[in-house]
Amino acid sequence: AREMPDILSEEFAADPYGAYRALREEAPLLWHEGMQSYIVSRYEDVARAFRDPVFTTANYDWQLEPVHGRTILQLSGREHAVRRALVAPAFRGAELQSTFLPVIEANSRRLVDGFRAAGRVELVADYSRHFPINVIVDMLGLDPADHARFQRWYTSIIAFLGNLAQDPEVAAAGERTRRELAAYLIPVIRERRAHPGDDLLSTLCRAEIDGTSMSDEDVKAFCSLLLAAGGETTDKAVAALFANLLAHPDQLAAVRADRTLIPRAFAETLRYSPPVHMIMRQPAADVEVTGGTIPAGSTVTALIGAANRDATRYADPDRFDVFRTDLETTTAFSAAADHLAFALGRHFCVGALLAKTEVEVGANHLLDAMPDMRLPDGFVPQEQGVFTRGPAALPIVFTPAG
Ligand code: HEM
Repeated sequence: AREMPDILSEEFAADPYGAYRALREEAPLLWHEGMQSYIVSRYEDVARAFRDPVFTTANYDWQLEPVHGRTILQLSGREHAVRRALVAPAFRGAELQSTFLPVIEANSRRLVDGFRAAGRVELVADYSRHFPINVIVDMLGLDPADHARFQRWYTSIIAFLGNLAQDPEVAAAGERTRRELAAYLIPVIRERRAHPGDDLLSTLCRAEIDGTSMSDEDVKAFCSLLLAAGGETTDKAVAALFANLLAHPDQLAAVRADRTLIPRAFAETLRYSPPVHMIMRQPAADVEVTGGTIPAGSTVTALIGAANRDATRYADPDRFDVFRTDLETTTAFSAAADHLAFALGRHFCVGALLAKTEVEVGANHLLDAMPDMRLPDGFVPQEQGVFTRGPAALPIVFTPAG
């Protein structure tokens, strides 16, 4: 058999998609010695890793605990179901429209106003990196003057989570962030319990089901998770959406002319260039997947980036096509046609509708502010990252709108 690509190599990081195809076709189940993990890459196996409860999230105890504390992602069974029911209502459509839409619009507009007269922008540094974090800070009802401080904590958390080389300084900085965030948030949480408002933090403090509610530490851990789960992902999704559209000017023109295509363009971006490329699980019992058996207690890496380009699922999978008909474009899961960028099953992204709302608002503002947006001459966008992935930078030039 030919040698399989190493997903921790530089060649892989430069372009994982060819490697994904080789894995899907020739090694659908592969043991990776360096990662001490099995790797699955076919759509059906990746979907199974999310949907079948035999695949637990026990691995998150060592991956997430040091930086976030105990979050909803580490929970399982009834404990997870209750926690999920406590937090999910705040992220549903009605709540988003009434309470949070103005927050989303104001934050996007403020960032766009910062560059709209300049004729050029670096979309990642000047917009997408800030937008979702600022939204979360404001949704929680925290001081907008602290946006920059949260940006630093966010940067430290995602560096910790992406610390493949196990750099001790990055690890220490992540643990320091955990302490700083707790020192900041715990007093605010106590204050909101005493004097609740209509902000997300008060809602989380107040939530109760059959006498179960969240402790101060639970609420703090959830807020910490929101910075990574809701920040890095949406950041990369916005940048990837525009990188894809700018690389396909005909599709950019179509979306500009008909804004109802934005949800399709977003869904196709999540399929074609998902922000989260890999997620780990730990099976509680031996499981059969394509290509063999994964033993109980081992670690499995499920390649979302590979599953989303499985040719048995999507026609011509390596083509970015806003108009493809074999893809679900809402955030309501459809077994027939869904990409796996939001995962599936019990841990399916609780913020999917929020992300969709942010991207719709943001994309409209960006299209309006940059009527002739284009890449600088000769610039080709590059993705970076292995576990999470997105454009490293996205410079855009445009004629300022009058
Ligand atoms: C879970 C992706 C936006 C909050 C997840 C998972 C994925 C994901 C793949 C499953 C993780 C696992 O099963 O191990 C994304 C993507 C987003 C996005 C691609 C943007 C395009 C957001 C936003 C928020 C959010 C905006 C909230 C502010 C969460 C939370 C969970 C989660 C709390 C854990 C749910 C649970 O354990 O039950 N997300 N997410 N996400 N996401 Fe998102």
